[in-house]
Amino acid sequence: MYRYVIVGCLVLVMVLGANLSPGSAEETKKFVPVEFTDAYLADPANFAKGKEIWFEQCTHCHGYKAYPGKAPKLKPRRYKPAFVYKRITKGFKKMPAWDEVYDEEERMAIVAYVMSKKFSP
Ligand code: HEC
Repeated sequence: MYRYVIVGCLVLVMVLGANLSPGSAEETKKFVPVEFTDAYLADPANFAKGKEIWFEQCTHCHGYKAYPGKAPKLKPRRYKPAFVYKRITKGFKKMPAWDEVYDEEERMAIVAYVMSKKFSP
């Protein structure tokens, strides 16, 4: 009788274990690079949405009012759009990833804002 219980438990552990292993449902999203054309970056409609998100989500770490040292002040003139997109998408050390929060279009819009002349932290 006890033997069946033990075997049952082992089967259960194996089934649960298989479900938790990487490659199943919870696989993290792959990074897919996108292309930024000058036309896209220059379109005010694109960076308007990005500006909204910037002030909602980013300024409390990157903004000029953020606690000093919380996050670096962004220097867009030193960045390429693809770099900013990658940091926003996948994060880096203490910089959070946003690919679970914002879709590709929204993340591109944030890049358009950060890279625009209107950008102000
Ligand atoms: C919880 C605080 C926090 C939030 C919120 C945050 N960041 Fe960051 N971010 C950081 C930190 C810390 C770094 C520096 C990571 C490192 O290089 O060690 C960073 C780095 C970056 C970089 C790269 C800067 C460089 O010079 O290497 C970019 C671009 C960036 N963040 C953009 C954003 C955007 C856009 C948002 C809003 C969607 C955002 N961050 C929200 C903390 C934050």
